[in-house]
Amino acid sequence: MNVLVIGGGGREHAIIRKLRESPRAGRIFCAPGNGGIARLAEQVSIGALEFKKLADFAAENGAFTVVGPEVPLAEGIADYFISRGLPVFGPVKAAARLEWSKSFSKSLMKKYGIPTAGYEVFTDAESALEYVERAARPLVVKADGLALGKGVTVCESREEAREAVLGAMRGKNGPAGETLVIEEFLTGPEVSVLAFCDGKTISPMLSSKDHKRALDGDLGPNTGGMGAICPSPRYTRETARECQEKIFEPTLRALLAEGLDFRGVLYFGLMLTPDGPKVIEYNARFGDPETQVVLPLLKTDLLEIMTACAEGRLAELKIEWESGAAACVVIASGGYPGDYEKGKEIRGLDEIDEASGVWAIHAGTELLDERIITSGGRVLGITAKAPNLSEALVKAYGAAEKIRFDGAFYRKDVGR
Ligand code: AMP
Ligand code: GLY
Repeated sequence: MNVLVIGGGGREHAIIRKLRESPRAGRIFCAPGNGGIARLAEQVSIGALEFKKLADFAAENGAFTVVGPEVPLAEGIADYFISRGLPVFGPVKAAARLEWSKSFSKSLMKKYGIPTAGYEVFTDAESALEYVERAARPLVVKADGLALGKGVTVCESREEAREAVLGAMRGKNGPAGETLVIEEFLTGPEVSVLAFCDGKTISPMLSSKDHKRALDGDLGPNTGGMGAICPSPRYTRETARECQEKIFEPTLRALLAEGLDFRGVLYFGLMLTPDGPKVIEYNARFGDPETQVVLPLLKTDLLEIMTACAEGRLAELKIEWESGAAACVVIASGGYPGDYEKGKEIRGLDEIDEASGVWAIHAGTELLDERIITSGGRVLGITAKAPNLSEALVKAYGAAEKIRFDGAFYRKDVGR
């Protein structure tokens, strides 16, 4: 079976790496791909929102389509493919709403008793500001819609909360911020759990932990993710049981009760609070960089799982995982997540010994005349697998040291 993967970041590189292991996979295409994906898949220059062109391409090439990023899902790419009778991995727009509208996901959680932070929704600045004056602090101000991870502000003071409200209402996040969710501040370790879902059955993957801040010690601005580990040491068997019972199963039941057919990856961003695990956010896709560490530990054929999700027969599969650990250290361009330069030549990639269980996942790279150059803020995710987390970290850091490009930097405390 041929496969078309949509996207061009580290997540899609990790997905394609895994798909290449499938004996059922024929030709693998990626639109648009990147410098690392270029070595594993045939690159197709069609944009993620050019639904007709993508569907024509998938139809001509008999391809099963896998959607990586959230924007095409929020714009209804799965609905379009289904209307054309084309097989696709990724939820329809109405189900992906769990990610593209925070006010929707919060009301769903409230209605079905799924643990999450207390909240209020506002559509005008006046009532939001009035609420800020009387609510307990700290507060978390969130834009309702997709905002590239930039729509959330944790506000210690009332002044900060006022600014966050005014900024959002003034259009800092575009239409995403016209509706606001203001939430109670929660504390505790954060864990990501991604789950395969076919609309009727949910199968959680191994837990993982993202490192969102730019600098060591969880300091500096939020980023798209500076590293990840799998599994999360904080996610015990007991916690997993509690999440299954109070969060995962109830979310699936809520979707079913609302007539929402979720086929794809349902991502649970969780906080393990003193009152038990609570949902911080849902995403309707694989996480980035969580995918880079979770998929290497998957034993079952990924393509088999994805087609089973699309066809609603996930219950037939037994999904198996390796018992080891994986770690990913992201190497970023100097200045990221602010302004940074592109086009820097990357050296040292051929010094990474893949046979020893460590490899470079490409995020922001491009292949130019046989050279790999930087083309984004997050450039590479050096990823390793080992029998335990400390060995995986030693391997990943050992290989990260070999990578050189102007301005390269990475966190030194991933997994600690
Ligand atoms: P989100 O985009 O909703 O995942 O939020 C981004 C980050 O903001 C999360 O990973 C948390 O670190 C933080 N955050 C979001 N909501 C809350 C909350 N209610 N309490 C504390 N921190 C939060
Ligand atoms: N790692 C967070 C996300 O993918 O949204």
